[in-house]
Parts: sequence; structure tokens; C-alpha cells
Amino acid sequence: MLNIGIIGAGRIGKVHLESISYRVKDATVKAVADPFMNDETKAFIEGFGVKEIYTDYHKILEDPAIDAVLICSSTDTHSAISVEAINAGKHVFCEKPVDHSIEKINNVKKALEGKSLKFQVGFNRRFDHNFAAVRAAVEAGKIGETHIVKITSRDPEPPNPAYIKVSGGIFLDMTIHDFDMVRFLSGSEVEEIYVNSAVLVDPAIGEQGDVDTAIITMKLANGALAVIDNSRRAAYGYDQRAEVFGSKGMVATANDTLSTAVFSGADGVIGEKPLFFFLERYMESFSAEMRDFVDSVENDKPVKVGIEAGLQSVLIGLAAKKSVEEHRPVKLSELL
Ligand SMILES: NC(=O)c1ccc[n+]([C@@H]2O[C@H](COP(=O)([O-])OP(=O)(O)OC[C@H]3O[C@@H](n4cnc5c(N)ncnc54)[C@H](O)[C@@H]3O)[C@@H](O)[C@H]2O)c1
Repeated sequence: MLNIGIIGAGRIGKVHLESISYRVKDATVKAVADPFMNDETKAFIEGFGVKEIYTDYHKILEDPAIDAVLICSSTDTHSAISVEAINAGKHVFCEKPVDHSIEKINNVKKALEGKSLKFQVGFNRRFDHNFAAVRAAVEAGKIGETHIVKITSRDPEPPNPAYIKVSGGIFLDMTIHDFDMVRFLSGSEVEEIYVNSAVLVDPAIGEQGDVDTAIITMKLANGALAVIDNSRRAAYGYDQRAEVFGSKGMVATANDTLSTAVFSGADGVIGEKPLFFFLERYMESFSAEMRDFVDSVENDKPVKVGIEAGLQSVLIGLAAKKSVEEHRPVKLSELL
């Protein structure tokens, strides 16, 4: 049985606590730490039978009975806590992004060198049933040589503008999942990126120096092209689709809906909207990524989403920001 400590008990920390408690075999949450622990969060955690609840995560790192930690705290704490956890001999699951700084991600990479510890990054969408099926088709050679990867990723509602600055903006917070998805589906690195963007959803986002709508094009190392379209608000809900087109055909996904019931009447045919947001749409993938992490640690298998995925996704995100600022295509090599 793997003993896990969760650092950060906000939205995603709670998701992982619930997953491990109900849907992951061979693992248990031994302790949770959050400096802003309140009575409601404490009661939630206790509801899963966790008795060790701290405000200081060092208590988790100092506990020899804890094998692995999940870093679910605010983004600006991820890389420093990762390094501390690795030096304390813990396996690490770190939420995305590992950091906004390449230098700090490299510090995590260095800390891992020479150690037989697992480090997984929280790109849960790789474990989603739809996207995993697309990748499986590409890997099996069903579409032949990949020519175009297309990702549609639109949120149902924009975040609070105050969140924009701390999150690093759309590319490092939201699109980072799509950047990782391009690498995952194509099996190739991104070499160059060009972004056309606008503020069309909420002027307050523009006032924070960010954009809320983007069309992103990329050139990949294997010669293929990729395009991502992002919006912070789709009136019909969370729009999450992918398509890979190649020399022998195409593989594409549709949105998941609450039901497949379709009403047909005199005025038309109406089906369900996509599932509302990430907690509804990706719940099963959060459990699947956790099962995979536990399996990697317990059976000494390589993690499927390691530090390199964490690094490359942030490099692409930083290149996207540069492309917006300088209105030109940016090669990733410019940032190294
Ligand atoms: N994979 C995904 O789809 C996904 C979804 C949501 C969030 N995230 C990522 O997870 C992280 C947390 O996001 P969230 O939505 O849960 O935010 P949140 O604000 O709800 O929770 C963050 C928690 O971390 C705590 N915290 C801050 N500093 C801490 C420290 N030093 N030690 C322990 N806890 C600390 C805060 O008190 C807060 O409770 C972010 O990096 C975000 O990008 C990933």
C-alpha cells in the first residue's frame, strides 16, 4: 500500500483526495497540508478518514512512512516544493505547470538526476478516454503519416480576472494542456509557434495584459502542422475536441455529454450540451492518471508524463507569449 501526502487542499487537491480514496487501489492518503486550512476543508478531508491534517507541508516531507507526495498547491510553489520533496526521498506527482520559469524547472530536473524517484506531471488529458483513443489510432499507424493535428479547447466561462496574473495567463494556465496534447497526439516536439490573439470575451482580461481568444499554429519536428483554437467562453459549454489527419485518413473526437438523448420536434432536433467544465468532463481522467502514477511507483515503471513534458509545455507557452508580444513566429530554440 502506497502512503501519499497531499500538499495543497484547494480544488484539485480535493479531486485527487477523492480519487485516491474511491477509485485508486493500493494507495491511501495519509496526510494533507495547506497553510490556509479552514474548518470546511478540514471536515472534507476528515470525511475521507484522513487524520493527519497540517498547515505546514514540511510535516509531510519529514514523515518516513509517506512514500509519495502530490503537489497541488498554487503554481508559484510547485518547483520549490518539488525539489524539497525529491531531496526528502519522496516520489512526486506535480500539478501543471511545474513552474513558469525554465530555470526553475531545470532545478527540478537536476534534483531528480541520479535518483530512482518517479516524477509525474498532471497532464490528465492524456488519460482521457477520447484523447487516449486518438493517440492509440495514431500509434497503430491507422492514419498513416501525420499531417495535421487540430485541437479545439474552449472554456465555458472565463476565470476571475484577479486569477489571470497569478496563473501566468492563458498560455501557461489553460493552453498548456493543449500544448501537451499536441506533443502527445503527434508524438513529436514543437519547433515553431505563431499566435493570433484577441480580447473578445472580457475586457478585464485585456486590462490584466492577457488575451481570451487565440488561434495558434505550430510547426512540428516531424514535419506535421498543428492548430489550436482557444476561447475563454463558449456559450454552449466546455468544448474539448481533437482531430489528427494523415496520409491514410483521420481520427477525431466529439464532446462528452451528460446523455446521448436527442429530442426531435417540429422546430428541430436538440441534444445535450457538452459536460460543463473540467471537474465534470475530466473526472475519470484524474483517477486514471493517479492509478498510473501509483502503478509506476509500486511496480517501478517509467511515468507516462515526466519532467520533459513539464518542461516542453512551458517552453511552448513562453514562446506563445513572445509571439503575441512580437507579432511573429517564434522558434522554441530562441528560448534556450
Ligand atoms: N490538471 C488540471 O486540470 C488542473 C485543474 C485545476 C488546477 N490545476 C493546477 O493545480 C494547482 C492548484 O489549482 P487549484 O485550482 O486547486 O487552486 P486553489 O487555489 O483552489 O488551491 C490551491 C491551494 O494551495 C494552497 N497552498 C498555497 N501555498 C501552499 C503551500 N505552500 N503549501 C500547501 N498548500 C499551499 C492554497 O491554500 C490553496 O488551498 C495549480 O497549479 C493549477 O494550475 C490543474
